Amino acid sequence: MEMQSIEWSLAGKTEFFLGRGLLKSPLWIEKIRSISTRIALITDETVAELYGRILSQQLGAHLFTIPPGEKSKTREWKAQLEDQMIERGLGRDTVLVALGGGVVTDLSGFIAATFCRGIPFVSIPTTLVGMVDASIGGKVGVNTEKGKNLIGAFYSPHSLFIDLSLLDSLSIKEIQNGLSEIIKYGLIANPSLLSETVTMEMRVREGIKIKCKVIKHDPYEKGMRRILNFGHTVGHALEIASKHKLSHGEAIAIGMVVEGTLSGIDTAPFFKPFDIPLRWPKSIEVSEVLSALERDKKARAGKARFVLLDEIGKPRSFEGAYCTEVPLQRVEEALYSYPYC
Ligand SMILES: NC(=O)c1ccc[n+]([C@@H]2O[C@H](COP(=O)([O-])OP(=O)(O)OC[C@H]3O[C@@H](n4cnc5c(N)ncnc54)[C@H](O)[C@@H]3O)[C@@H](O)[C@H]2O)c1
Repeated sequence: MEMQSIEWSLAGKTEFFLGRGLLKSPLWIEKIRSISTRIALITDETVAELYGRILSQQLGAHLFTIPPGEKSKTREWKAQLEDQMIERGLGRDTVLVALGGGVVTDLSGFIAATFCRGIPFVSIPTTLVGMVDASIGGKVGVNTEKGKNLIGAFYSPHSLFIDLSLLDSLSIKEIQNGLSEIIKYGLIANPSLLSETVTMEMRVREGIKIKCKVIKHDPYEKGMRRILNFGHTVGHALEIASKHKLSHGEAIAIGMVVEGTLSGIDTAPFFKPFDIPLRWPKSIEVSEVLSALERDKKARAGKARFVLLDEIGKPRSFEGAYCTEVPLQRVEEALYSYPYC
């Protein structure tokens, strides 16, 4: 098991292990038990059936589960899990292991940040989004009815175990969600990721490297970190306009095509080899997307801001702001002329 150390400046170092079949080696158990032998493992019910029950037995961990999906990423579930952990007698000497997608790692990381004023946290992402995005960068938190990720903290895992074989059970839709983020990394930083021939291991490794580098440069999102939002301004508006029927990956893929148009670059061909759907849902009116854009939390005075590209792999700097307002007429034109309907 090859160990590397990754660093993002907000929370020091995280031990990082990546490989296929990593969890078959006893080393991951030894590593976690060397932090503490009192272990809580949080996962969702789907992942519990696939991996969680067996892994928690091997680890000698207390197992806690939540229903799968975004609806569990709440303050209420955080409180329930904390109460269950206290009832089992777990305290400050506990290490908390998160096994799951971004929902589980975001929620568990936030629990670890506040339980007994902070306990060590180990992340084992089981989705591609979790591996290349959610478990990287130290953002943890929950949603409220008013919006996503409104309550949270920066809290980085002590260690991160990425076992690519966990992806074998993942649905195509969830793989595509992760691939959309990887294509984003290709479009903003490393065009070699846009090639079909790159292995999944390289995609994950390079995706993590890019995210870590950007975050280290700009931990508080004052400038360069914004490039990670390429495609997300339009993508978020589409998710809202579709009442979340479009998945995040589908919405940001369309977002990257529209924001590519605003940049004068056709990004659509890069999605085709990965079979990522770019179809604009019939039920969504452009006017709904425009009003969601006005309410975007990153908008200034009702004017949405966009990350634009100078060329593939090179975001436009805008004097270090890395985003800009675009005249409404140009945004409307790009949306109305979207070719995949
Ligand atoms: N903290 C961050 O920086 C950050 C970044 C990106 C996304 N996120 C958050 O991540 C969440 C989305 O994460 P996600 O896309 O992983 O979704 P998810 O956690 O809801 O997982 C998606 C589905 O896949 C199932 N699943 C997970 N692993 C599986 C496996 N190996 N095999 C079969 N099924 C499996 C889950 O049960 C779930 O139904 C959102 O809440 C988002 O806000 C956070």
